[in-house]
Amino acid sequence: MKMALGFLTAILITCFAPVAYASDPSPLQDFCVAVNDSVAAVFVNGKICKNPNMVVANDFFFSGLNMPGNTSNPLGSRVTTVNVNQLPGLNTLGISLVRIDYASYGLNPPHTHPRATEILVVLEGTLYVGFVTSNPADPNQKNKLFAKYLNPGDAFVFPEGLIHFQFNVGHKNAIAFAGLSSQNPGVITIANAVFGSDPPINQAVLTKAFQVEKKVIDYLEAQFRWNIV
Ligand SMILES: *[C@@H]1O[C@H](CO)[C@@H](O)[C@H](O)[C@H]1NC(C)=O
Ligand SMILES: *[C@@H]1O[C@H](CO)[C@@H](O)[C@H](O)[C@H]1NC(C)=O
Repeated sequence: MKMALGFLTAILITCFAPVAYASDPSPLQDFCVAVNDSVAAVFVNGKICKNPNMVVANDFFFSGLNMPGNTSNPLGSRVTTVNVNQLPGLNTLGISLVRIDYASYGLNPPHTHPRATEILVVLEGTLYVGFVTSNPADPNQKNKLFAKYLNPGDAFVFPEGLIHFQFNVGHKNAIAFAGLSSQNPGVITIANAVFGSDPPINQAVLTKAFQVEKKVIDYLEAQFRWNIV
């Protein structure tokens, strides 16, 4: 019976394999703990593996997610990341984690993760969250917003690559955790990428793209000259 079930599972997995895909490549061994190797200048799509014989439990460990992030910044939010750069054991495993703290009315502004879907769960507070679809094929339709108010215990998923945000609509601090389907999801914060790039994008591009006068672009560029990290 057990074998039959296993066989059935294998068949089911095979059937659904064409529709299921991960952003990150699947691991080809138990693990590949990331290590710095300045001597061997080998470039891989990810990090170089530590010798498995040298791997220790701490390579798979991260501590401190009980500590609130510092939200003293213009947005009133802070993302604490636990990806392959902080937790080398995540290398090749296609997964990572963040803690997000929000001050009262703090905002995690519109951004995308080029390499990951994100599932977020609220622990404290009330968040207004949402994502916007990519440009519709039908020119008569608009990019569609999917948004919800989330309370503690509520979860919401932001599909890979789509622009999304979270806004603390309460007087009190809010806390959320999220899992992301990449060891290194990447973040593109829309305002910072467009108005805060280094060097700046030619203003002729921005005035035309946003259909505004140069002084509006000057103003917006002045707002995003700080580092969001
Ligand atoms: C890897 O090397 C860089 C640059 O020397 C350093 O900043 C970083 O902390 C190192 N990471 C690990 C996991 O040792
Ligand atoms: C939080 O960040 C602000 C602005 O960078 C800084 O002045 C303050 O000392 C930080 N607070 C803590 C507790 O680290």
